[in-house]
Amino acid sequence: MQLTPSSDSSNVALEWHDGLLLGYAPMDGVHEEFVACVCAIQQASDEQLPDALQALADHAVRHFSEEDRWMEESAFPARECHINEHAAVLKSVLEVQELLARGDTAVCRRLARELANWFPGHADYLDSALAHWMCKQRLGGKPVVIRRDLGARLAPVEDARSAHPADVQNR
Ligand SMILES: [Fe+2]
Ligand SMILES: [Fe+2]
Repeated sequence: MQLTPSSDSSNVALEWHDGLLLGYAPMDGVHEEFVACVCAIQQASDEQLPDALQALADHAVRHFSEEDRWMEESAFPARECHINEHAAVLKSVLEVQELLARGDTAVCRRLARELANWFPGHADYLDSALAHWMCKQRLGGKPVVIRRDLGARLAPVEDARSAHPADVQNR
């Protein structure tokens, strides 16, 4: 994820909705927290930004290291791309913390926009494949998602898609 002065992401407000559920409960709970952290930054005043960004950084360390551990421990195929994407995003968050400490609130707001754009795709391609894998490993079956906004119908998650090669640093 490259944050340059010319970064021009549309102003996406990230909100939790059942379409983000992947069917592996430990991951879904953490993803809801991630969305809350990004929302908190998007809604924060300039004075509230450092605390909101710290909360996101703490969350990201836990979120990404847990998924990395699941992939390593279960020998998840093609895990390198996913682990690298986590590392790139965390690096950006830590860099923006340094810039914010020097008073650059604009870069922090840009980070929140970038994360709001990035997360649905990451969840849809990389995390969904991992959720599918973890359900098979631990529960012996495909994830089942109950989406309230779709009339509470049971929808089996599609077969895991191959990890997409997109590198967030090039977006
Ligand atoms: Fe995730
Ligand atoms: Fe992930």
